[in-house]
Order: sequence, then structure tokens, then C-alpha cells
Amino acid sequence: MSISFIHKMFLDAQKRRYAIGAFNFSTSEILKGIFLGAHNMKAPIIVEASEGEQSFLLDEKVGAEEAVALVNTFKKYHKNKMILHADHHKSFESIKIAIAAGYPSVHIDASEYDYEKNVRLTKQVVNYAHRHDVWVEGELGHVAGTSALHREIRIQDFVKGMAETDPYQAREFVEKTGINALAIMVGNAHGLYKGMKQLDFDRIAAVKKATKAFLVLHGGSGTPDASYQKAIKLGINKINVNTEMRVAFATALHKSLHSMQELTPYKYLANAIEEVRKVVEHKVIVYGARGKI
Ligand code: 13P
Repeated sequence: MSISFIHKMFLDAQKRRYAIGAFNFSTSEILKGIFLGAHNMKAPIIVEASEGEQSFLLDEKVGAEEAVALVNTFKKYHKNKMILHADHHKSFESIKIAIAAGYPSVHIDASEYDYEKNVRLTKQVVNYAHRHDVWVEGELGHVAGTSALHREIRIQDFVKGMAETDPYQAREFVEKTGINALAIMVGNAHGLYKGMKQLDFDRIAAVKKATKAFLVLHGGSGTPDASYQKAIKLGINKINVNTEMRVAFATALHKSLHSMQELTPYKYLANAIEEVRKVVEHKVIVYGARGKI
């Protein structure tokens, strides 16, 4: 898979006004649920692993190789429209491990650093990744939070006072770094909170206008369906979801293990995989990605 292959997928999403769903996995069962959802819906898909998710096997390196092998198997049955992406990798070293293992797409998240360091590290990754024909997502305006339940915190309180992406700085960032896609902070945060997420639509439109870049919305869980759709109309091309799948998977697994006298893994894991499939199917329908392959 090459930069030009991924570029064509993003261009198709932009032209036909849908978003590519990006879903996280740390086990082959979750990946199977994602694959089944995307496959049933005939939707192009991105599957992604953070540094922690990728390290779940033996270590980061072996985990990266496992992720590549698993996705190579599934994508053959999905007309290759399944991209493996390194999500929120925070160092050059970690990006190099993912690329060496065969990831075609990476996210260098240097958004917690000051602007100058974010530019420097992102550009260093772009120079290296592009030499290996690997797609790079950068992040400007830090998307905070973790992909977990934070039900005791109101989302509006959590994001209050956090800096959103500045459109003009974003234009400079895209030009200086040469990234292929840009993740932005527009009122979003990772995880599920009390209340639904509220996106800053004017800012999405302004960043799109200033940068003309492919834009990525992180922290997709707990966003109203109509908000996703409005965000896509205004220029969002990829939407990341993790927590809603984690909740679906864990809830179903707890239920199976407590209600069944079942020792066979492929039996007690079946419902959990099903619940992931349902989340993915719902999201890709809402994103308008159904039937796009
Ligand atoms: P959520 O956990 O809020 O769905 O966010 C996931 C994400 O953005 C992964 O990069």
C-alpha cells in the first residue's frame, strides 16, 4: 500500500462527501468485529493501534508485526480498502518501529509539545516516512483525554479553556511539515463523558478553508450522529472511534463470562465480536461510507 493509494481513498471520501471510519484494536477479536462491520457495509476502513494497543502482544515491535500480519490477511478479503494506521505514536522511535513492521500510515502526535517542537518532530517523521512511501497524519491543537469512561465529568467542563486549532497556524503547520492529513481540536476529546460532545463547526470550516487539507476528527465516541454528518459536510474526512467499541466489547464479554458455563474462547468471545461489529456498522452508515467500495 502506498501514499498514492491512501490519497485516492481520502480523495474519494472528500469528493463523495463521506468520512472514512477509523477504529482502534488491540486484539484479533476486536479487529475481526471491525472487519465484519466494514465488510458487511462495503465501507472503506482504517484500523489503528496506539503504542499501548500495539504493545499488547510481546512488545511494541512484535505487536507491530502481528498487527501488520493480521491486517494483511483481512484486507485481501476487503478489496484492499483497509488501511493499518499507527494512532497517536509520540516519538520518532515508535514511528520507525511501525514503519519497519510494514504500517502504511502513521500519526505522529507531537501536539503536547510547543508549536516549534511539534513542527520539528512532525517534519522529521514526514521526511522519514515519505522516503518509505508511508502516509503521515499530524496533530495541531491537542485532543486531550483517554479512551475510557469519564461519566463523572461533564464534557463541557473537561474541554473548557483548552486551546482549539488556529486556522492560520494550521495552514503554516501543513505547509511547513508536508503532512498528508491533519488532526484538529474543535471541542473534541477522547473518551465518553457526561453529556454528548459539541463540536465547533465554524472552526472546522475555517481550518478547512485555510489549509485545504484532509482533516481528522479524534475522540469520535459520544458525538451525536447529526454532528458527525455536519462535520463531514464542512471538511472532516476521517473519524476515529475507540471508547464506544471498548464499552461494547467489555460489556458483552462480562455478560458472557458471568452468564455462561462456557470455557471455549471462540464461544464466549462471539458476542463481544458481534457488539463491535454493530458499533462499526452504525458508524459507517452515519458517516455515509456504506457501499463506497
Ligand atoms: P474515542 O475513544 O473518544 O472514540 O476517541 C478515539 C480516538 O480518537 C483514537 O485516536
